[in-house]
Amino acid sequence: KNVAIIMGGYSSEYKISLTSGNVVFQNLDRTKYKPYRIHILKEKWVYVDEDEQEFPINKHDFSVEKEGRKITFDVVFNAIHGTPGEDGLMQAYLELLQIPQTSCDYYQAALTFNKRDLLSVLKPYGIKTAQSFYLNQGDAINQEKIMEIVGLPCFVKPNKSGSSFGISKVKESSELLSAIENAYREDNEIIIESFLDGTEVSVGVINYKGEITVLPMTEIVSENDFFDYEAKYLGKSQEITPARISEEVHRKVAETAKKAYEILKMKGFSRSEFIIVNGEPYMLEMNTIPGLTNESILPQQAGKAGISLGQLFENAIELALK
Ligand code: DAL
Ligand code: MG
Repeated sequence: KNVAIIMGGYSSEYKISLTSGNVVFQNLDRTKYKPYRIHILKEKWVYVDEDEQEFPINKHDFSVEKEGRKITFDVVFNAIHGTPGEDGLMQAYLELLQIPQTSCDYYQAALTFNKRDLLSVLKPYGIKTAQSFYLNQGDAINQEKIMEIVGLPCFVKPNKSGSSFGISKVKESSELLSAIENAYREDNEIIIESFLDGTEVSVGVINYKGEITVLPMTEIVSENDFFDYEAKYLGKSQEITPARISEEVHRKVAETAKKAYEILKMKGFSRSEFIIVNGEPYMLEMNTIPGLTNESILPQQAGKAGISLGQLFENAIELALK
């Protein structure tokens, strides 16, 4: 089977995606699959071969021509964090072309990538969230009202983004405006959330061989103010799997993460973030194209469950092909 591993993307996360994509490329079983590295970048969509030679992708049918031979793909492994891989655009495009792909469908991708919309869909089902305030670029900023709703400290986040790009923790109201400006660099919508003082856990939920499976959860202990870019990628945090929480709390968080996956009719990978306050999980977000590098959280969790990277990726491909 020809597997197109799509990686890169148009957002600040493109470098992380290239790493994720290359890890997928290295770990696929060559006796079953022929993997192709496909870079989806703003300036070009190209197949990159073993000699790092590039061949343009034909966008009409997602094929590529190399040395007079046309190559088509049986399945796409989606490793693009952020737009256009995690927000539904690639999913919709591939569905129109009837090419199966490993992530959730376009609607789920668009919904989950939008933090406000995801949380507002889940809230009526009893899933708890932080107090929040939402702004569009150009909206008047009523600082008093924002402070009344979220208080201090609070988090200012781009509404549709990943890897903590554009996120600030605001401790004093004088920092609010610059935090808002910073978040608008990543997205034209922002969400401001109250600070939840508790234990942060990251919960992978995947469909493994047809079963919705909650992986061992990871506790995040950041050396920085929060789990920011540096904490995530430059080692400034401890990621402890399994999380040091009681069995009862563990069960509650696992149930909540699984429930969210089911309510949304998810497919493929998901990794949801929660803050546990007084034994109750509050949901922050869900990532549908979680980092897939060796050090990334979801692969670590799979490892603890006895699932190797090769098995994790093969499972995703086989489910996409069903
Ligand atoms: N957005 C990053 C890649 C993650 O969720 O792991
Ligand atoms: Mg995220």
